[in-house]
Amino acid sequence: MDVVIAGGHGQIALQLERILADAGHGVRGLIRNPDHAADLEAQGALGVVADLEEQDVDELADAIGSADAIVFAAGAGPGSGPQRKWTVDYAGAVKLMEVARRNQIDRYIIISSIRADPDAEDDGAFGTYLKAKGKADQKLMESGLSYTIIRPGRLTDDEPTGSIELGDERGEITRADVAAVAAAVLETPGTAGKVMVINNGPLPIAEAVQQVAAGG
Ligand SMILES: NC(=O)c1ccc[n+]([C@@H]2O[C@H](COP(=O)([O-])OP(=O)(O)OC[C@H]3O[C@@H](n4cnc5c(N)ncnc54)[C@H](OP(=O)(O)O)[C@@H]3O)[C@@H](O)[C@H]2O)c1
Repeated sequence: MDVVIAGGHGQIALQLERILADAGHGVRGLIRNPDHAADLEAQGALGVVADLEEQDVDELADAIGSADAIVFAAGAGPGSGPQRKWTVDYAGAVKLMEVARRNQIDRYIIISSIRADPDAEDDGAFGTYLKAKGKADQKLMESGLSYTIIRPGRLTDDEPTGSIELGDERGEITRADVAAVAAAVLETPGTAGKVMVINNGPLPIAEAVQQVAAGG
């Protein structure tokens, strides 16, 4: 596969790049800062300079070209104000849905969040984040693309455990395990059209992803 990862220098993205490159896939990561390209190269990925806020759909479509899948792993981050939840977490994701349609990239995987909800209270803080993420997820479900929505709990930097639980709306998960789930989802077309709420738990990731693909 030829996979494009938005938020290419993010903490989940860098780990996903390594997993995909080791599995023999072509991986490009979208980065704002050209100096980040070396960190992507160290993971076996190519950096493509693109800014989801500053560039429009035409420019992003040109920068991305053809690919088999897009993974949206970008985010404004915890230090950002409410406005950037809309310009990155929502509008950035939606722009890439349009790019996917234009460039005939059928597969789109989004790193969303536990409790993402289009009807969350727009409170200028965490509620705004959950609302922006929930609205992006809703757009993706309506997009006609082969989507998978991954909703992790609180992210940690602990060592990967290789196992998760599905469906619990409270919990935490390592960024490394989120990356492993995203890689397994990319390898499992049956996960298209599915929403996965994930936290660390007892189920091996491969088994959990198969369960989701089978409709569980
Ligand atoms: N924190 C949590 O507990 C939690 C829980 C559930 C889900 N999540 C979601 O998981 C996502 C991924 O997590 P993470 O820890 O890997 O994130 P991260 O390390 O903060 O990475 C986010 C990436 O998005 C990029 N970005 C920001 N604005 C951009 C723009 N305008 N154009 C292009 N790229 C842009 C950043 O680029 P720069 O390096 O240039 O800033 C950064 O590399 C988060 O963003 C969040 O939405 C988080």
